[in-house]
Amino acid sequence: MLNDKKTIFSGIQPSGNLTIGNYLGSLKNWVTLQDEYNSLFCIVDLHAITVRQIPADLRKRTLEVLALYMACGLDPEKSIIFVQSHVPAHAELSWVLGCYTMFGELSRMTQFKDKSEKNSQNVNAGLFTYPVLMAADILLYQADLVPVGEDQKQHLEITRDIAERFNGVYGDTFTIPEPFIRKVGGKIMSISEPTKKMSKSDSGDGSVCILDDRDTIIRKFKRAVTDSDCEIKFSEGKDGINNLIMIYSAFSGKTTDEIEAEFMGNGYGNFKIAVGECCADALGKIKDKYNLYISDKAQLEAVMRTGSDKASYLARKTLSKVYRKVGFVTKP
Ligand code: TYM
Repeated sequence: MLNDKKTIFSGIQPSGNLTIGNYLGSLKNWVTLQDEYNSLFCIVDLHAITVRQIPADLRKRTLEVLALYMACGLDPEKSIIFVQSHVPAHAELSWVLGCYTMFGELSRMTQFKDKSEKNSQNVNAGLFTYPVLMAADILLYQADLVPVGEDQKQHLEITRDIAERFNGVYGDTFTIPEPFIRKVGGKIMSISEPTKKMSKSDSGDGSVCILDDRDTIIRKFKRAVTDSDCEIKFSEGKDGINNLIMIYSAFSGKTTDEIEAEFMGNGYGNFKIAVGECCADALGKIKDKYNLYISDKAQLEAVMRTGSDKASYLARKTLSKVYRKVGFVTKP
């Protein structure tokens, strides 16, 4: 990448059906950013196995996420799109960075605490060192910016700490990345339990999936949990309505004020249907494109091959530098 553009890196785990949280919090922003930045978008399958996966499902979902990336508008001519396990440098740098990451700081990660509670039968070392691999993903490509949802903020902070620590010992090695989190869409909550984050690991009515069909989407929104008030206004204590306003705003591009004015005097029922229809319209277009991409295996393979070749080339450069700095003998 010999230009003066800055670099962005981001990724999604192929660990469930992608939701509108994933779309509005990350994917949608990637599509606009790819024109301005050198962009790398990864399907982070190494991260996915920190929670037990059915191998055939993981394989299938990895391709589905790739097809979705493209259906949402990521363009392999503009961005490097690849699968994490196809670029061994991620695991290699992760090992080195793990030696510069403290047990105490990993113990403080809220996502580790949450996931350990949810998977109490499988609190494995990978779950614990998950943020180190994420730091490796980002630092390998000297990313300036990492577009993510708000739940990844703490992982970005530890990435910066690890990079600063390494740079402090060995001199300038890594670019210190900044998170890029949108106010609108950065934290989409479950529509059935609006105090909980919408998550691809929840299969219930609280999560709206990008590939849900129109009727399902509208039905889920009709059932969305709100409050006993009936005013469509963004305000404290109205988690359900606030979340629906955010979702509508992110899909329609309208501001909160515009939305409040548009629905003044309307009941929650009408508003829920409007949010559902707006969401279904946007997702319907993505789904049509998805169906084309997922049925073209040769194209998906070509994208993965080219993406991993380009990513490997860049990753090797950083990894060689790191190996030299820590004192490994260069392979003769
Ligand atoms: P993952 O797979 O959980 O989620 C992918 C992206 O979607 C965002 N997101 C949300 N945004 C708004 N509202 C929500 N309810 C919501 N749910 C998910 C996430 O913030 C994320 O941006 N650790 C990462 C994957 C990863 C990564 C990386 C990301 C691995 N290496 C390097 C950036 C850079 C994760 O589990 O995302």
